[in-house]
Amino acid sequence: MPAIDRDSATAEIIYEPVAVQRRFDPPRRSIDPNSSHHWVRRLAPLIAARRWRFIIAMIAGVGGLITQVAVPAIIGNAIDNGLRTNINPYVFTLILLAFLRVGFYYVFRLGLFQVSLGVEADLRTLIYEHLTRLSFDYYDRTQSGQIISRANSDIRSIQVLMSFGPLVATSGLMFLFAFAYMLTINVSLTLVAAALLPGVYVLGQRMRRLVFPLSWVSQSRQAEIATIVDENVNGVRVVRSFTAEQREVTKLAAAAERLKWSQIETIAARARYNPAIEALPRLSMAMVLVYGGWLAIEGQVSIGDLVAFSSYVIMMQVPFRMIGFLVLQYERAAASAQRIYEILDEPLSIVDSPGAEDLPAPPTRIEFRDVHFAYGSGEEVLRGINLKIEPSETIAIVGRTGSGKSTIARLIGRYYDVNSGSVRLDGIDVRSATLRSVRHHVGTIPDEAFLFSASIHDNIAFGRPGASRDEVVEAARSARADQFIRALDQGYDTVTGERGFTLSGGQRQRISIARTILERPSILVLDDATSAIDVQVEAAIHEALRDQLAATTTVLVAHRLSTIALADRVVLVEDGVITASGSHETLLATNPRYSAVLADAAAVDQAAN
Ligand SMILES: Nc1ncnc2c1ncn2[C@@H]1O[C@H](COP(=O)(O)OP(=O)(O)OP(=O)(O)O)[C@@H](O)[C@H]1O
Ligand SMILES: [Mg+2]
Repeated sequence: MPAIDRDSATAEIIYEPVAVQRRFDPPRRSIDPNSSHHWVRRLAPLIAARRWRFIIAMIAGVGGLITQVAVPAIIGNAIDNGLRTNINPYVFTLILLAFLRVGFYYVFRLGLFQVSLGVEADLRTLIYEHLTRLSFDYYDRTQSGQIISRANSDIRSIQVLMSFGPLVATSGLMFLFAFAYMLTINVSLTLVAAALLPGVYVLGQRMRRLVFPLSWVSQSRQAEIATIVDENVNGVRVVRSFTAEQREVTKLAAAAERLKWSQIETIAARARYNPAIEALPRLSMAMVLVYGGWLAIEGQVSIGDLVAFSSYVIMMQVPFRMIGFLVLQYERAAASAQRIYEILDEPLSIVDSPGAEDLPAPPTRIEFRDVHFAYGSGEEVLRGINLKIEPSETIAIVGRTGSGKSTIARLIGRYYDVNSGSVRLDGIDVRSATLRSVRHHVGTIPDEAFLFSASIHDNIAFGRPGASRDEVVEAARSARADQFIRALDQGYDTVTGERGFTLSGGQRQRISIARTILERPSILVLDDATSAIDVQVEAAIHEALRDQLAATTTVLVAHRLSTIALADRVVLVEDGVITASGSHETLLATNPRYSAVLADAAAVDQAAN
């Protein structure tokens, strides 16, 4: 690993499935956590971590501007004095300045961008790291598009400000130097030279007032187009099945037309103002020549001064052109920073409590003690759940849709925290154990099998990237996936498409099961995770699980009779409470509501298949 001064406080490892090393340079610092501070101040620790680089860059910047600002004065002197005596020293000085300038600006720009891009990288890592720790309730209420845009354009706008601000600052300093030098030569000529420069600023502002809203419009229209394309790529199956291609193309063409309009308007506004802005300094040059020429004839200024002044006019307009842009960029970056801080300030609700320890042994007993739970500030979804699941027991949770089955499943792996009561593994409250040990021992398989765009091997080995091929194959066998994987062209090395679209729903579910089996959890939670798998294959999977993970406690959320039949015990959940518990046969014989729920589920299942 490269040797950099890292802050040990930020280097703690958050989640380590089994043997995964953290392989990136952690951010040097975090932002100032005090949200009442000004946004720039909150960013300061990130810049402070690179202060030497920043200071050296700024010194080089000042050096560079001196090499620039000195040139017209030297040329003026060369004309006035050198031509009469010896021109060589002036020529040498100019050549030296040219070389120095190259060196200074190299150090300046390189340092400046190293700092600003470094801060950008840190912010990106900080955001991502925070996102990996935020609990699901955050994701429940945030659009993924929002998060992606924050991680991209908002960080970029801060980076632009950070590299642009110092550039403008040095050009402002250049103006001051030039202005002061000119004043020492001739006050009235200086005023004539500078008279039109505020016009550069005013015209620039006018142009920006037109262009800025247009660029927002362009941006949002670009996003609009991106959304249409994205939906059509991701939703291509839906679009095709309704033969809605033409309508979608029309929609895109219309959006493209709207984008074109705003882009052309932007160009038009620029085309109108830019020539005028560029003409002003030339006008100033003409005024310097007229008035300065008269002063020269009168003998009040020299020819050399005149030449120097006309160069300074061009040089001095630069800050006037840039300052307005800087103000806008500042406002943009301030808004971006607020959005970024919104993520970073989002409290972590599900974290290790102080003094949390790893579970001492792989847990096998699950207990819900009077659990009440609501999502966010919503209505209570679980209203007093009491449930004991014994080691190596297989239990099925049955209930109508929306009754709270998945919610119970999610609480076992502590994806949410209960409002009152407790969820215990081997008698230990999940909130007092470390999250990584809970999640490691509790294997939760969701109904939607998400596959990464990677090989099947890597998809199965997601939780244990170091797993050998034999281990992967063994897990795939237990999940009854080995056979169809081998039949694929490249077997385990076949790369699945995004979301695994090259595989059938049942195949994806089996890979997702293999992924969890590889972790050898002591508690297995399947939330409808076999819904797309054939009944016979499903039974075979459970048989294999029973062989391989004999001690494992299994919780099945199930709709299908065949799945329910695999369980030792069934609990019926109705509207957030457990209303019955017992073997399938007993419940069927004694509980009419259970039979009704099953009958409905069977009807739904049949309709679905
Ligand atoms: N992430 C969430 N945020 C807010 N409310 C939720 C969330 N997930 C579920 N709910 C609500 O909680 C209730 C129970 O949902 P849950 O997913 O546990 O039902 P379920 O029994 O698994 O249903 P299904 O059989 O359809 O999967 C529902 O009213 C649902 O609207
Ligand atoms: Mg569910």
